[in-house]
Amino acid sequence: MTLAALGRDTRPESPPLPAIRAPRREDGAAVWQLVADTAGLDDNSMYCNLLQCSHFAATCALAERGGAVVGWVSGYIPPEHPRTYFVWQVCVAAEARGQGLAKRLIQAVLARPACAGIETVQSTITRDNAASWALFGAIAETLDAEMIRAPHFRRADHFAGRHETEFLVTIGPFARDGRAVRSAA
Ligand SMILES: CC(C)(COP(=O)(O)OP(=O)(O)OC[C@H]1O[C@@H](n2cnc3c(N)ncnc32)[C@H](O)[C@@H]1OP(=O)(O)O)[C@@H](O)C(=O)NCCC(=O)NCCS
Repeated sequence: MTLAALGRDTRPESPPLPAIRAPRREDGAAVWQLVADTAGLDDNSMYCNLLQCSHFAATCALAERGGAVVGWVSGYIPPEHPRTYFVWQVCVAAEARGQGLAKRLIQAVLARPACAGIETVQSTITRDNAASWALFGAIAETLDAEMIRAPHFRRADHFAGRHETEFLVTIGPFARDGRAVRSAA
């Protein structure tokens, strides 16, 4: 055995941190597949994901590791609420969960110039989605902002009984001093 081998750290290396970037049209099919493979998420048409990856690229983000898409957030700024970032779907592959990736994805979008005027984050969550409640609770904590919830799309009134009630979550308004928004990006 050489001296170099003796000094080598033989502990298994942890996988590299996924890189976060804005999507491109070419990512649409892989994003569609990630969403389709994720239990608990509504399926989208691939066309919907292609629009998100093109027209809405400035407010969507994907995470990739080794060429594979392992995380995704889609969102937009509602035309009538230009200070709000609305998160449509957030999704992390099972093997990449529990490492802060969903939080990093949302904060990466908030740190972009497109979101410079954003003071409120919204999303909708079903009552039983504990991971999602925890995620948005953690984001509110990081932004040092209040989080309120209220029924929004109701099972009987809006989903014709075919989907659980979605609760609107509102975080903010939060201060735009940049620190909290940038810290996990
Ligand atoms: C929800 C989801 C995106 C979270 O992804 P993730 O990368 O594991 O989340 P993070 O590691 O960024 O966790 C953010 C916070 O939520 C907490 N959290 C995440 N998953 C949790 C769980 N299952 N139970 C309890 N807390 C959880 C984390 O502890 C962390 O809190 P902290 O910052 O105070 O430590 C992922 O579980 C997922 O893809 N679920 C299926 C799709 C879905 O339901 N999406 C949301 C509706 S669109």
